[in-house]
Amino acid sequence: MAALKDQLIQNLIKEEQTPQNKIAVVGVDAVGMACAISILIKEFANELLLVDVIEDKLKGEKMDLQCGSLFLRIPKIFSGKDYSVTSNSKLVIITAGACQQEGESHLNLVQHNMNIFKFVFPNVKYSLNCKSLVFSNPVDILTYVAWKISDFPKNRVIGSGCHLDSAQFHYLMGERLGFHPLSCHYWVLGEHGDSSVPVRSGVNVAGVFLKNLHPELGTDANKEEWKECRYTLGDPK
Ligand SMILES: NC(=O)c1ccc[n+]([C@@H]2O[C@H](COP(=O)([O-])OP(=O)(O)OC[C@H]3O[C@@H](n4cnc5c(N)ncnc54)[C@H](O)[C@@H]3O)[C@@H](O)[C@H]2O)c1
Repeated sequence: MAALKDQLIQNLIKEEQTPQNKIAVVGVDAVGMACAISILIKEFANELLLVDVIEDKLKGEKMDLQCGSLFLRIPKIFSGKDYSVTSNSKLVIITAGACQQEGESHLNLVQHNMNIFKFVFPNVKYSLNCKSLVFSNPVDILTYVAWKISDFPKNRVIGSGCHLDSAQFHYLMGERLGFHPLSCHYWVLGEHGDSSVPVRSGVNVAGVFLKNLHPELGTDANKEEWKECRYTLGDPK
């Protein structure tokens, strides 16, 4: 007797075996799972792979996502400790590594996370044509390390840089002004971490530059105390 699936459906063409748009996330704690959930919600992939060294946690996170499949359009969610599961990924996102403790600088993590990268990156070979996106800190240094270890062309090794710092300020600006963060524009440049630089001259809402409206913004003289924002309008962190 034919298998149940064969009784339900008859394929007129051969089923596609190679994934069209597979994304792998390495490291499944806070940052990795935020990436995974964003990918699923935005429907960026048709297959999602999770990798971590802690097997129980990996299994639990995978099952949680799989059980949410009813609400998502990406039913193919897999995981494994072995990087072969990531083969043919279009994008490999690296969030593996320790994160800094309170009062600690990102730079203290260099050696520890570099050792992790020495293990992780040779394994990205399963996806020779992928792009890699690095989140682990210190992100700018580790992106350079990843580029060196992987031997990928530089346009295929991308670090998250100050993207988060900029996004945080978009939110803070939006909250203060009562606008959606998408209308607020502000860039934090340089190295992600203690030495990043907020570009005060460029702060604008829908193209209206705040420094033209309020030259005192970000200084002690400003009564609205914009200086209290975590990333102040003008002062480095
Ligand atoms: N770039 C940014 O804007 C940004 C923002 C926040 C955090 N981070 C950084 O992202 C990283 C992850 O943050 P987190 O809070 O999820 O950290 P975490 O330490 O809680 O989790 C890291 C995960 O990596 C896993 N891991 C460790 N070694 C591994 C290996 N060899 N292979 C696979 N997985 C491995 C761990 O088991 C753990 O699940 C940290 O380095 C953190 O500083 C970057």
